[in-house]
Amino acid sequence: MLELQEVCFSIEKDGDEVNLVDHVSIRVPRGHFMAIVGPSGCGKTTLLKTIAGLNAESAGTLLWNGKSLSDGHDFEPSEIGYVPQFSIAYDPLTVDESIEAATRLRVRTTGSADLDARIDRALEETGLAAIADRPVKVLSGGQKRRLGLAMELVSDPKILLCDEVTSGLDPRSEREIVKLLHELSRKEGRIVLSVTHSLAHLELYDSILVLHEGRVAFHGPPDMLTHYFSVKDTEEVYPRLATQASDRWQSSWAKHREAYYEKIEKLRAKNIRDGELHIPEAKVVVDDDPENPEKQQDDAVRTPGVVSQFATLLSRRWRIFFRDRGQVFLQLAIMLCFPVLVSLFSDKANVPIRSLSDMRQNDVMAELAEQQSVRQDTMKAGSALSGIIMFQVVLLGLMGSNNSAREIAGERLIYEKEKFGGLSPTAYLASKVAFLSCLVVAQSLWMAVFVNIFSPFDGSFGQHAVFLLLCNGAMTAVCLGISAMMKTAEQASLLSIYLVGFQLPLSGAVLALPEKIEVITRPFISAYWAWSGSVEALATTRNLAVKSVISTSITPQQMCFYLLGLHIVVGLLISWFGAKRHQWE
Ligand SMILES: Nc1ncnc2c1ncn2[C@@H]1O[C@H](COP(=O)(O)OP(=O)(O)OP(=O)(O)O)[C@@H](O)[C@H]1O
Ligand SMILES: [Mg+2]
Repeated sequence: MLELQEVCFSIEKDGDEVNLVDHVSIRVPRGHFMAIVGPSGCGKTTLLKTIAGLNAESAGTLLWNGKSLSDGHDFEPSEIGYVPQFSIAYDPLTVDESIEAATRLRVRTTGSADLDARIDRALEETGLAAIADRPVKVLSGGQKRRLGLAMELVSDPKILLCDEVTSGLDPRSEREIVKLLHELSRKEGRIVLSVTHSLAHLELYDSILVLHEGRVAFHGPPDMLTHYFSVKDTEEVYPRLATQASDRWQSSWAKHREAYYEKIEKLRAKNIRDGELHIPEAKVVVDDDPENPEKQQDDAVRTPGVVSQFATLLSRRWRIFFRDRGQVFLQLAIMLCFPVLVSLFSDKANVPIRSLSDMRQNDVMAELAEQQSVRQDTMKAGSALSGIIMFQVVLLGLMGSNNSAREIAGERLIYEKEKFGGLSPTAYLASKVAFLSCLVVAQSLWMAVFVNIFSPFDGSFGQHAVFLLLCNGAMTAVCLGISAMMKTAEQASLLSIYLVGFQLPLSGAVLALPEKIEVITRPFISAYWAWSGSVEALATTRNLAVKSVISTSITPQQMCFYLLGLHIVVGLLISWFGAKRHQWE
């Protein structure tokens, strides 16, 4: 039984408290199918989110099987299913794969037979078995809604909340979905609450809740609706609602409330007698026995551990990556072409630098001319080496931002939905780090190896490669943090591109910055630390050459190493806070 007692959800508006859900008091028994209707903006979604615990109620009490949900006894993630208005499946995956991933993330199955049985049952119940191998992107609107339901059904939720799962469908598909929801409420004593705009098929519901300005204008059996509102047709209910203030409707309904509930109860008893409504006996005992929490715990479906969720997410991420041919092509093109671009310039850095002792002349004028020529060679080689290192570093920074800027922001709603269903943010972030690390290692090592093959520099290849790796890692981690904090993928991409764009001018490798600015900006510029560390690693015999052309100081390698490591840690910490944060909207 779900019971709401004087539940409110308020927001602050112009310094005043405004109730979006206003003293809602309703009772919903097990095995009940309820429609929540009302004009747009009346608070239907807000009420659903308040019941789900996504909005914390500002007053009143929510009771679930006699226990207050306000006292920290939240629904178990597997106990509640929430089908939001947006699609919760990834387009490149098939129906079967989407349901399998949902099961693996939500249910600690006892083996592959249990897993398969759950997937098959969800497919059967929602009528998706025949199109199980179809990709999500080709599904019709109605099929997508069914998939959304199937992905919730895998955990056997005891309460299923659906937000406009029929909107935008043709009348036939709409009826099919309402019938499906009706059937889902006939089994296992499941409560199904469905928000809808449509006033069609109301006879399939056990009760109708009409909301008006956040208040209950009516909650009762469907056949009492027209009588209560004194209208001939249900279509006239909304215009009728507008004729009276919501508080008057609320008090008017309060007078009829118990009579309507009695009627609902009688109909329910009849449905149970007729075998139309099946409420398992054992579960009635458990539900009605708040004194016995252990029994309830045993019955509950348990959420898988972090490692299992991590493995599911990582394999799903790779699958999505490889299914998106455009993405794979782009990644490969960037990874392969950027080092080629660098190599085109690298021969300029490898010109031999003659030393003066090799070409002593007797003629003073000739010696001065030679000295001049050597100085010019040295400057050319030095500035080419410095420029090439900076080129590598900036391109890797670009790859880093391209790797992760959209990674979390682009799937935020799906992630929030999965978090609500019991996904651990640690497993989620770890899967992102594992996936991105593979890209970072491949991109950075290929850059280091390719350029080294075509124009080997003096100095330590290994140390240079480490700095390239750290630079790409730092930019990837920081952009992942941005992705976790931003509301949309567009915002995250834009900010990440700016971040990369500022690396070059603020690094000081092209033009030295004014000292006051340099002190402030330098700690944040990954490109500088990777460049400086690499110059130290590569310019062993050409140190003088490089130093002769740059007016920016070179920092000892160890310091560069720690700073880049710090950037990675900070990026990951920001990602962690962003991923933990509740961000439904
Ligand atoms: N977090 C919030 N902050 C401020 N206003 C909000 C918030 N959530 C909802 N609202 C406002 O509360 C009202 C009710 O919103 P809600 O989304 O619940 O309406 P609805 O009945 O679901 O509408 P629709 O049928 O169009 O989906 C709207 O005016 C909306 O703008
Ligand atoms: Mg809504």
